[in-house]
Amino acid sequence: STGLSTAAKSAGKKYFGSATDNPELTNTAYVAELSNVADFSQLTAENSMKWDAIEPNQGQFTFSQGDQILQLAQKNGQLMRGHNCVWHEQLPSWVTNTQWTNATLTAALTNHITNLIGHYKGDMYSWDVVNEPFNEDGSLFSSVFTEFIGPAYIPIALKTARAADPSTKLYINEFNIEFTGAKATAMLNLVKQLKQEGVPVDGIGFQCHFIVGEVPTSFQSILQQFTALGVEVAITELDIRMTLPETTALLQQQQTDYQTVINACRSVANCVGVTVWDYTDEFSWIPGAFPGMGDACPFDSNFNKKPAYQGILNGWA
Ligand code: G3I
Repeated sequence: STGLSTAAKSAGKKYFGSATDNPELTNTAYVAELSNVADFSQLTAENSMKWDAIEPNQGQFTFSQGDQILQLAQKNGQLMRGHNCVWHEQLPSWVTNTQWTNATLTAALTNHITNLIGHYKGDMYSWDVVNEPFNEDGSLFSSVFTEFIGPAYIPIALKTARAADPSTKLYINEFNIEFTGAKATAMLNLVKQLKQEGVPVDGIGFQCHFIVGEVPTSFQSILQQFTALGVEVAITELDIRMTLPETTALLQQQQTDYQTVINACRSVANCVGVTVWDYTDEFSWIPGAFPGMGDACPFDSNFNKKPAYQGILNGWA
């Protein structure tokens, strides 16, 4: 029967997938649906390939949690997206608390990327090499990386990633670039600049953490503006949250909103796939981050399909 992934593939896409996290993998009902390749043909580690998990102390690499998710994907025959190499959040304290120089932080950064991507060489469809580099006004987000290396941390990270695994697609992943504005313009300019300078960049990830009733109308046109620059695009962290309690009207609007987002990807040739930021309300990050909001996923807390599931199928049709 038609699933979320089979429908995506019928529309010419490479995958439909879900994020997942290690503690959830003890739940057999959860894992059964996550492993249903008719629905999910791709996985992303929600936390376990981030810097604090991978290199908790300088030069000490711990891949066991990430490996567990990769092994599940391989057992199921699913693609993997790597998430992520460089981000200002979920950094171990040795990264944020050291008085670096440009040279010493560049060495620590390149060593991290070389080991992380090298460990998973040949196993990843793509990597989010740089995560969330911009402020809302289009300036670069201030972090240890901009402080000690400057804007050059971005091309350094991308070139190091290319050298570590020439076969994986290199992405920059961002939120609030799904609509026209300073942040999307800054990302467009960054892609143009990197291309001009011969820096490898293959894709832009659109996180798509949306609110019911507020899917941006410019989304499909923005996707096209990026693919016109010669990069592919992907929806990397989709969820559509609502103010609780859930109502029939909100669930119907959520179905429409999922359909709208999926239809935008379907309509853009170089939008390669969609990942939901976990498939079930049971394990969504939303209630923890936005108190009073939730129910953002296409499956409910009992792993039953919501109207949003049909919205995704409609979007691919
Ligand atoms: O691992 C610790 C655990 O030891 C401790 O007992 C527990 C107590 O709070 O916290 C655990 O860490 C949590 C971690 O997830 C792992 O579960 C952090 O508190 C929590 O803040 C962290 O949240 C993650 C968040 O990134 C961090 O910024 C979310 O699960 C994850 O969904 C979210 O994902 C991000 C993407 O990477 C980038 N885009 C935005 C997206 C949503 O914020």
